[in-house]
Amino acid sequence: MVLTTIICSASSVTLLYIEKSAIFTVTMELTYTKVRTGIPGFDTIISGGLREGRSIVICGPPGSGKTTFGLQYLYSGAKDFDEPGVYVTLSQSADEIHKDCKSFGWDIRELMEQGKLLIIDVRPFKLENEIVTLDESLYRGESVPFEHLTQLILSGIKRVDAKRLVVDSLTVLAMQYSNKFYMRQGMQGLVQALEDHNCTSLLITEQPQQGLIPIEWYVASGIVMMDHVRKEDTMDRTIQVLKLRGVRHDDQIFPIKLENDGLKVLHPKLTT
Ligand SMILES: Nc1ncnc2c1ncn2[C@@H]1O[C@H](COP(=O)(O)OP(=O)(O)OP(=O)(O)O)[C@@H](O)[C@H]1O
Ligand SMILES: [Mg+2]
Repeated sequence: MVLTTIICSASSVTLLYIEKSAIFTVTMELTYTKVRTGIPGFDTIISGGLREGRSIVICGPPGSGKTTFGLQYLYSGAKDFDEPGVYVTLSQSADEIHKDCKSFGWDIRELMEQGKLLIIDVRPFKLENEIVTLDESLYRGESVPFEHLTQLILSGIKRVDAKRLVVDSLTVLAMQYSNKFYMRQGMQGLVQALEDHNCTSLLITEQPQQGLIPIEWYVASGIVMMDHVRKEDTMDRTIQVLKLRGVRHDDQIFPIKLENDGLKVLHPKLTT
């Protein structure tokens, strides 16, 4: 038998081989563990859930719903699927996060007490005597290696045995490092470590500048774009999956709603 070609698609692997001058093919369906986001409508777009252990970028302009998406993913994971989560904040304080969750009726304090949710505050700035200063205990320019941050995140994951992680936002993290190659290496290391720990992660990023493709878009295995467009005297919010390696997904732009109980994707056929 001579193996001639391997064809890989999102959901299968096909082997072409020659035996006694005849060509044969064998197709093997690939299965993977699906992590349900718990965001109504979203899992239907992505064939039932995210691939376990993968890191996905959630990108969008201010107020498009990125943080809400991340918090809802962790809240639903801990509450509905018994999957603990870690929220790494580089922008909002833990107190602000609690208040945001409360406005959607999510009691994260209880989940934190049960060890199902952990907030790690790695903001590069702190408020001291009402003056914003650089937090020298964590960052000293670029002298603090990216791996230290990765270790901090991994120790948080181990503490609650987390299956889910949200970094909010990676853009703020990227600002700490001017060396792009170093940043990409660090990010690749983080993504690999998260995959090794089977931790399915959302990496929140801000809208990139026109014509610039951020490195995290290449490093992550998926990109979900959130947006809002002006409609007369109000605005419509939308969501679109731009890429999701190894997952069959819808390419369409879907409308979303942010309501009292959180975010949902609107589509007549979308139920889960
Ligand atoms: N309880 C609520 N009910 C309905 N809508 C809400 C509620 N709380 C917040 N919102 C809406 O969600 C928006 C903020 O969403 P979110 O913080 O998730 O956006 P974001 O993309 O993370 O923004 P940023 O880039 O500034 O961090 C608010 O501007 C508000 O319009
Ligand atoms: Mg936010």
